Amino acid sequence: MRINRKLVFICNGSDCKKSGAKKIRKELKDAAINGSLKGHCKFFQTKCMDMCKSAPVVIVDGHFCKKTDAKKVMDQIKKA
Ligand code: FES
Repeated sequence: MRINRKLVFICNGSDCKKSGAKKIRKELKDAAINGSLKGHCKFFQTKCMDMCKSAPVVIVDGHFCKKTDAKKVMDQIKKA
């Protein structure tokens, strides 16, 4: 059986880190290991994506989540 995994790119640039990207990544990883996202996504850290004014930036399967938080990203992962 093939599992359809979502690819989640989390910006790890300095502006996104200042705006909470580390916290988002931690919450998403916790959810992926123990919670509702288990087995549904794979996370990648990226360098600055040149959208620092919209920090923190996360891309879920091609959809940009700007000025986002962990809950919004989780909703997008479930929707995508
Ligand atoms: S630091 Fe994240 S887009 Fe620039």
